[in-house]
This record gives sequence, structure tokens and C-alpha cells, in this order.
Amino acid sequence: MRLLSLSCESFRNLGQVSVTPSARTTIAVGENGQGKTNLLEALYYLATLKPLRANTLKELVQFGAGKARVQGRWLLNGAERDIAVEVSHGTRTAFVDGKRAASLESYFGGVSVVAFTPDDLSIVKGGPEGRRTFLDRSVFNRFPAYLQESREYAKALKSRNRLLKEDAPHSHLTVWDETLSRVGARLLVRRRALLTEVVPRAVAAFAHIGRIEAKATFVYEPSHLDVPFATATESELQAALSKALETRLVRDVERGHTSVGPHVDDLDVSLGEHAARQYASQGQSRALVLAWKVAEIENLKETNGFLPMLLLDDVSSELDPERNAFLMQYLADSGAQTLLTTTDAELVRRAAGAETTWLGVKNGVITPG
Ligand SMILES: Nc1ncnc2c1ncn2[C@@H]1O[C@H](COP(=O)(O)OP(=O)(O)OP(=O)(O)O)[C@@H](O)[C@H]1O
Ligand SMILES: [Mg+2]
Repeated sequence: MRLLSLSCESFRNLGQVSVTPSARTTIAVGENGQGKTNLLEALYYLATLKPLRANTLKELVQFGAGKARVQGRWLLNGAERDIAVEVSHGTRTAFVDGKRAASLESYFGGVSVVAFTPDDLSIVKGGPEGRRTFLDRSVFNRFPAYLQESREYAKALKSRNRLLKEDAPHSHLTVWDETLSRVGARLLVRRRALLTEVVPRAVAAFAHIGRIEAKATFVYEPSHLDVPFATATESELQAALSKALETRLVRDVERGHTSVGPHVDDLDVSLGEHAARQYASQGQSRALVLAWKVAEIENLKETNGFLPMLLLDDVSSELDPERNAFLMQYLADSGAQTLLTTTDAELVRRAAGAETTWLGVKNGVITPG
């Protein structure tokens, strides 16, 4: 898989941008606030239809413009495909080879990217929501159908929570319990499958880069589920969710939100006996995230049969020199197509080679060299 060309129109501060990336490393250099992350975000959005950092789709459209558009040409299994996404009036439309995409499956068609941003580096120390989003991005990369499934879940959850706030009759609320438990169980199974594949790799990668004797562990912590998460079947998970929704209904009505399901679960990360959230140093918690990313990339390489494209948003400035050197060497050795952004070209020079394409980013304009 390879990105052959990328163009954006009115995406954030990028007016008209057209980029021909290297088959290996492309490095976008620019000062703060010039549009480096916007470029990376445009590509991430094209490849995943998930915003990298925006809360609303409206944010993606350039101030004063009616519509944002990102388009990319990919080489996939020897054939070229063109995908594009447009955002206007808060909704997105996806296109494959110039026509409206018939389904998300036809849209993604094997396109796979892994992003690594400074926000990722804080997930170990932050709250559960950040870890869920982090985990879900990995699950989506592995199982693209997860996007549709999590949307269905989020819609049902929103409806149930609204009714809880409105003090609606219980019978109106429980209408949503079937969807929440059925789709919720599916999300749990997807997360579990991803963890089964990625965790052993992340543990091994951390042993290599962590510079600490203690072993890393990543354990999924489902909330209020009366069934063993590791071994339960999907229908057992569904039944357990359904039961928990029922037994917690009165409490949920009092609190005005749904207190059980994949939207409240957490991923516990520990070093040896100790919760990383409380006890890991900043360098250690960053090494944990780095290990996870390496594990995710290696896993996708094995399951897809090719490497994902890697997008790194200025992470070098956030890593200590030793971890940064590891990462740059890893990128140089991996052979993956990579887009890096940086304010300081020196930090990423080790990832560069003869095939590197350098781009300058200034005030939303991208120039080669
Ligand atoms: N919808 C939008 N329309 C126009 N400009 C926008 C929009 N959204 C963000 N911007 C502008 O984009 C700029 C930030 O771009 P970006 O985040 O890509 O910077 P950066 O080069 O990554 O900087 P840093 O090095 O600080 O991370 C800001 O000036 C911001 O105001
Ligand atoms: Mg940035």
C-alpha cells in the first residue's frame, strides 16, 4: 500500500494544497501554527474518516469556506484507487474513484494508517476516556467495520442518555437496551480481539525500549460486568450487559447517564505491580505508548500483509533523545511509508534517507524543499 498523491482544498488553514509524497519518508517542516498538523490531520481524516483532534466536523472547514475536501491516490494490491472526502454543513461525503462511496468498506478498501501524536503521549497519565479513544483507534485500524459499529452504539447511547435526563418512563428507556447490549457486546469482542493480538507485542516492545526491569501489562477493565471478560462468548457478554443495564437502571435514572458498557470501560496499564497512571515516570509512560504503537504497526503488517502508512506529528520534540533515536531508527529500518512533521529538522534527520521528500509549511502553503 502506498499513497501516491494527496490534495486538500479549504481544509483548516490549507487553501489549495497538492503533495507528492515519497514512497518512504516525507518530512514537513515549519514553525508553530503554520499548518503541519493540519496536513497530517487531512491525511488521517481521508484514511480513517475519524477526526484526529476536531470535536465537530465544522472545525475542519477553512474559515469562510463552504466546503473542505481531501483527496488521495493510493496504490493498493497493484491497482490505483482514488478516494476523497468532503465536509460541508457538518456532514461528510465519501467518494471512491469520483463516485459516492457505496459503503464504508468499499471506501477504505485496505487503506491503513497509524498516527502518533503528542496527545497520545499523555494517555497513560490521563483519564479513561483518552485511553478508550486510543484503544478504539487501534481497533478500527484492525477491524474497519468497527467504525460503523461504534457509531451505532454511540447513537443508541445518546438516545438512552437523553431519555434518562428527561426522566422518561422506564419502558421508553429499555427500548435502547437491546441495541446497547447487542452492539456493546460486539464492541467488547472487537476490543478483546485487538488486545489479544497487540498486547504481547507491546509487552515485548516495552521490554526492549523501556529501560526498566518491570514488565508492562495492559489489562482491559470492563465496568460492572458479571462475566469473565477474557473467555465469555459474544452472547454471554450481551446477556451480561443486558442484565447490568437492567439492574443499574434506577441508579442510571438518578445520575442521568448510562453507567455500564464499553463507553465507561478502561484499559489498565501497569509496570510490574504498580499502576502506570499513578507511578510511571513521564519517560516510562511515553515509552509505554511508543511500545504500543510499534506493536500495532507490527501487528497490522502481519494481519494485512503490508505495513500501514505512519503519520507522526512532531513527536520527536516530546521524546527524550534515547527514545527518539529508537523511534527514528525504527522508522528508517521499517520500510514503511511515513509522514513526519517537525519544527526542527535536526530531530528527525535519522529517519531521513536518500528517498526523503522535504516539504516546507508556511501559513497554510506547502512548498517542496
Ligand atoms: N478551520 C480553520 N480555518 C482556518 N484556519 C484554521 C482552521 N482551523 C485551524 N486553523 C489554523 O491553523 C493553524 C494551526 O495549524 P496547525 O495546528 O497545523 O499548526 P502546526 O504547524 O502544527 O503548529 P505547531 O507546531 O504549533 O503544532 C492556526 O493558525 C489555526 O488558527
Ligand atoms: Mg502541530
